[in-house]
Amino acid sequence: MSMIDKQVSRRRTFAIIAHPDAGKTTLTEKLLLFGGAIQMAGAVKAKKEQKGARSDFMKIEQDRGISVSSAVMTFEFEENIFNLLDTPGHEDFSEDTYRVLTAVDSAVMVIDGAKGIEAQTRKLFEVCRLRDVPITTFVNKLDREARDSFELIDQIEQDLALDVSPVTWPIGSGRDFHGCYDLVNDQLLFMEKGGNVVKEAIPIKGLDDPKLDELIPDYLLEKLREEVEMVREICPPFDLQSYREGHLTPVFFGSAVNNFGVRELLRGIGEIAPTPRPQEAATRLVEAVEPKVAGFVFKVQANIDPNHRDRIAFIRLCSGHFKRGMKLKHVRAGKLMAVHNPMLFFANERDIAEEAWPGDIIGIPNHGTLRIGDTLTEGEDLRFRGVPAFAPELLQKVRLDDPLKGKHLQRALEQLAEEGASQVFKPMMGADWIVGVVGQLQFEVLKERISAEYGIKVHFEQTPAYAARWVVGDDPLEIKKFRDANQSALFEDHDETLVFIARNAWHLETTQRDWPNLKFEATREQN
Ligand code: G4P
Repeated sequence: MSMIDKQVSRRRTFAIIAHPDAGKTTLTEKLLLFGGAIQMAGAVKAKKEQKGARSDFMKIEQDRGISVSSAVMTFEFEENIFNLLDTPGHEDFSEDTYRVLTAVDSAVMVIDGAKGIEAQTRKLFEVCRLRDVPITTFVNKLDREARDSFELIDQIEQDLALDVSPVTWPIGSGRDFHGCYDLVNDQLLFMEKGGNVVKEAIPIKGLDDPKLDELIPDYLLEKLREEVEMVREICPPFDLQSYREGHLTPVFFGSAVNNFGVRELLRGIGEIAPTPRPQEAATRLVEAVEPKVAGFVFKVQANIDPNHRDRIAFIRLCSGHFKRGMKLKHVRAGKLMAVHNPMLFFANERDIAEEAWPGDIIGIPNHGTLRIGDTLTEGEDLRFRGVPAFAPELLQKVRLDDPLKGKHLQRALEQLAEEGASQVFKPMMGADWIVGVVGQLQFEVLKERISAEYGIKVHFEQTPAYAARWVVGDDPLEIKKFRDANQSALFEDHDETLVFIARNAWHLETTQRDWPNLKFEATREQN
């Protein structure tokens, strides 16, 4: 096996998707413990403590600061290298989350056993489905009273239209929780009283093994036998291909806070989750094991030091063996850039990356040249697809407290938009810029950042703006006619693409009807 084959086969790049409070942070912490990144446990926790920080600038800053270093967490466990990409944890749904999911090969869906699938789980799942990202399910909090396991499985199956194949099966829940039965290896995963003790599984010769009688009370054992029989009858057996194609999800049960079921989950990911997948570029499919380096930017983050306008672009390597100091072609700009200080991320630490392999994420410090969606290669003019911009759901007018700062504001808005935190729309007529975000909290973060990083005071005002749509058409004449007829509703985004902002639903509908040869798109590929 060549070096690159070997390195690719060890990589698992994934994200965790969950509704807030289902246990994503706790699970992350425990996964990192298995990966030996013990010093990390505190940092993940610290981030969680920022959750209530709605308007306190320092806290938002700290939150961002920590998320710079925990945006990617790389750890090793039993021969494999795991790159866990953090999906931003705000309750406000953010576009960042979508983009992170374009850079992973699989996902773990965490569900609270008492609540089942919740709103955000569903939304995030839909994003995974768009790209057929394979999903492993972890039903968490079994140490609390949970819903009936069959009911949970049924809900996943119905709500998400997925085949469900349990890998483990819980024995009781709440105070009665005794652990899980490993359906694949016929083992008992016994939960010691007191929790948080990670023990090896106990091998069992079928469900009639007397060892079970010693450890599990009769009434639970009887139930377990019945349930396992039913599972084997009604649930499809695990099928690797179906999972890899995104049609089937293996399910693990556990309790993250007690570190129960986490190792089995991690082993499961190691065994079945896909290695770095081929990535689609405009001209061809790029295989991970190709010798030349290619990658794309899926996230840009400003450094926490407000006095320096430098940023880190997070690159997902799709192919090749990357080495520090390499000259890579920034395809959009058509220029070569030497990458002298690439970063790798280990839990709460970052380090200079001497080398990296497909599936890895490297951070490249830069002054704004690298944007979300950009492709870097060893020379080929590739453009990776699939890093979308979404039409923002909330639109407000941005107003300066000091009207003389117009130019500065423009620069601030454009730089922040390049980072992907918001979108800005410059009016064709008039002077009022409109800012669009996906979650309300982002307005607040923006206001604080414009003040702290650019020294400009602004406020946001409601404006009759219902939806933003990118206007696309094949006929330049038609577009010109449309421009002339709708000036007051037209804007340009930071890439100077034409955007129509409708005042209300009726305005959007009638305009779409009146211009049938134009497309009004709610998403746009970035590059
Ligand atoms: P999130 O990142 O998905 O939002 O969830 P997080 O891990 O922060 O967990 C949310 C709450 O659920 C936390 O409680 C956490 O301790 C708890 N939790 C996580 N896993 C389990 C589990 O397996 N069993 C039980 N019983 N609870 C679990 P909290 O009260 O919000 O915070 P804390 O003070 O306990 O940390």
